[in-house]
Amino acid sequence: MGFPAINGNTKVCGLFGWPVEHSFSPAMHNAAYQRLSLNYTYVPFNVHPASLPQAVQAVRALGLAGVNVTVPHKQAVLPLLDQIDAAAQMIGAVNTIVNVDGKLVGYNTDGSGFVKSLIEGARFAPKNKTALILGAGGAARAVAVQLALSGLAGLYITNRTPARAAELAEHVSRTTGVQAVALPWGHDLPADIVMEVDLVVQTTSMGMSPHIDQCPDFPLTALHAGQLVCDLIYNPDQTAFLRGAAARGAATLNGLGMLLYQGVLAFELWTGQTAPVDVMREALLKQVA
Ligand code: ATR
Repeated sequence: MGFPAINGNTKVCGLFGWPVEHSFSPAMHNAAYQRLSLNYTYVPFNVHPASLPQAVQAVRALGLAGVNVTVPHKQAVLPLLDQIDAAAQMIGAVNTIVNVDGKLVGYNTDGSGFVKSLIEGARFAPKNKTALILGAGGAARAVAVQLALSGLAGLYITNRTPARAAELAEHVSRTTGVQAVALPWGHDLPADIVMEVDLVVQTTSMGMSPHIDQCPDFPLTALHAGQLVCDLIYNPDQTAFLRGAAARGAATLNGLGMLLYQGVLAFELWTGQTAPVDVMREALLKQVA
């Protein structure tokens, strides 16, 4: 089966970001369209923040099927849309827009992609489990809210800047009803809580290439077998944090699955088809290598 040439019926999806040059999403989505012989194409658009309203209007005017939205537009785009999915509303950020006959609906597949990566990559279901999140930025917010919406029994949040951990904990408790508690950062983090939780998620940028030896200040020795430890970083594929967790016997998962499944879920929203996950993973791995 060949890849259909672009023609009058081609559905266009894309990415709005600033910058977008290094995004892996075009390779991942176009490989999936090709595998299923879908007459779709995925194009990155470098959208300056001042041009975001016009760019969103262009989705309507040009009839794009949908777009992903990345840094720095994920929050700013909300008031420009016609409808926001409940989870995206709670997270306060949108990464996927679907054009439903001119009505633009915003979703957040970062959080749901993360939870799907736990289930698919580690057979870990958050229901009735407890979790500890390191970090309180945008990624932490998506992960925290979606874990809570997936039936988590309780959540702890620790962050270098304590006020941000407190704000996120309050936000999660208020919007989802799942109790979230802010904890001190680093050496002051209670080791008994680190020992007790089922899941630990590292969402800070510490350890990201090129600073691959950086590791958050964390009582790694309190980790043990039976726990799942995730790092949202995928480059390097094993951060110092994950290596430390593995050395204590914990199961580990890096951030590639979240990147993959946020794309898988966006693909399914736009096309209504089951995504060819293996093809998308292969395309991603080629980009990361
Ligand atoms: P993202 O959207 O990727 O989560 P962000 O919103 O900029 O990015 O958040 C970055 C997170 O990494 C924050 O939790 C930040 O901590 P602060 O709130 O204290 O800034 C954390 N972070 C970044 N560099 C860090 C460092 N050197 N040590 C500890 N935490 C760090």
